[in-house]
Amino acid sequence: VEHRSLGTSGPRLSVLGFGAWVTGSDTASELPDAAGLRRAITAAIDAGYTWFDTAEIYARGGSEELLGEVLRPIRDRVLIVTKVAPSGAGSGMRPGEIARAIRESLGRLGVDHVDLYLLHWHDPSVPLEETWGAMAQLVEQGLSRYVGVSNFGYDLIARCQAVAPVHAVENQLSMLHRNGEELAARLSMEGVAFLAYGALAFGLLSGRVTPETILHPSDWRAGSFARYESNYYQELFARGRIESSYVFARGIAAIAADADLPASGVALRWVLERPGVSAAVVGSTDLEHVATNAQAGDLRLDEKTSRRIDELVSAHRTVAEETATAASARARG
Ligand SMILES: NC(=O)c1ccc[n+]([C@@H]2O[C@H](COP(=O)([O-])OP(=O)(O)OC[C@H]3O[C@@H](n4cnc5c(N)ncnc54)[C@H](OP(=O)(O)O)[C@@H]3O)[C@@H](O)[C@H]2O)c1
Repeated sequence: VEHRSLGTSGPRLSVLGFGAWVTGSDTASELPDAAGLRRAITAAIDAGYTWFDTAEIYARGGSEELLGEVLRPIRDRVLIVTKVAPSGAGSGMRPGEIARAIRESLGRLGVDHVDLYLLHWHDPSVPLEETWGAMAQLVEQGLSRYVGVSNFGYDLIARCQAVAPVHAVENQLSMLHRNGEELAARLSMEGVAFLAYGALAFGLLSGRVTPETILHPSDWRAGSFARYESNYYQELFARGRIESSYVFARGIAAIAADADLPASGVALRWVLERPGVSAAVVGSTDLEHVATNAQAGDLRLDEKTSRRIDELVSAHRTVAEETATAASARARG
């Protein structure tokens, strides 16, 4: 698997990271498939993944506990990323809450430090500068080697940077959600790493989820989870959207088949080839999928395949683009 640097100051890491949120769980529940996740993490280690992504809210700490247990024997060979979420969902973003949250995460993981600690999303009810000051202290105390943010736009990142360095940003980026593309390129000029999640559009681009797929009622992709109502779900999976997501995914699958590549590999490689992207984090409890995804770490898309993908991507309008067009039409009157 290809390796890249985590921004200008960070360590080398495999371009594929393993996501320890079992996709489909609503994050408030227990791990739906702990044994499967344990096997998948082991398969990911064997396939050459060197970093692993979790969060305090994934299965109420259950993901951290399981990840820590599997990684402990090889702790010095892998990077561990975890996150603190705003109060209500998680520990909270006040300085005292951040200091307590990381200690609890370290306890569940069974390690004395993590490699990257992220704010899971912005909490407008707490002054960001105070939160970020507390994050910088974690680095000084040796509790996390690097710190970053997730689901942040440029303006919020700049506010953090004014207080202390932001080493990495973990945001959604896929062929079906391209908002992160410009941000990744801009951040790389500032030496900040961009880690992409949702590169397979949560199973749509790999063909795992189609409009006919019957999802478990607690799966957020079925519309079960209020926090996702306004973004991921509405953008990709809601009725009226999933149909066009699927038409796009079939187009990618056809291009991939012509190049004798798996659709998942093409979707992952496309993300990895966006300027400024350091790595992508993918989730799976299917051992074959874990291995196939690792191969995307070494894939090269030939010129013809890349051109056909570009044509399809530029013809597909994301929700963000449709909203922007509608807004400018309104502004023109
Ligand atoms: N920072 C954040 O706010 C945030 C948000 C969401 C996710 N994340 C991180 O990103 C990770 C990945 O996200 P995700 O798992 O939700 O979405 P994802 O990686 O975009 O997609 C996962 C889905 O794709 C399927 N899949 C994976 N590899 C496949 C392959 N080779 N062929 C066919 N299907 C395949 C999986 O099913 P199978 O299990 O059957 O393979 C699963 O349904 C999470 O675990 C988490 O660590 C972070």
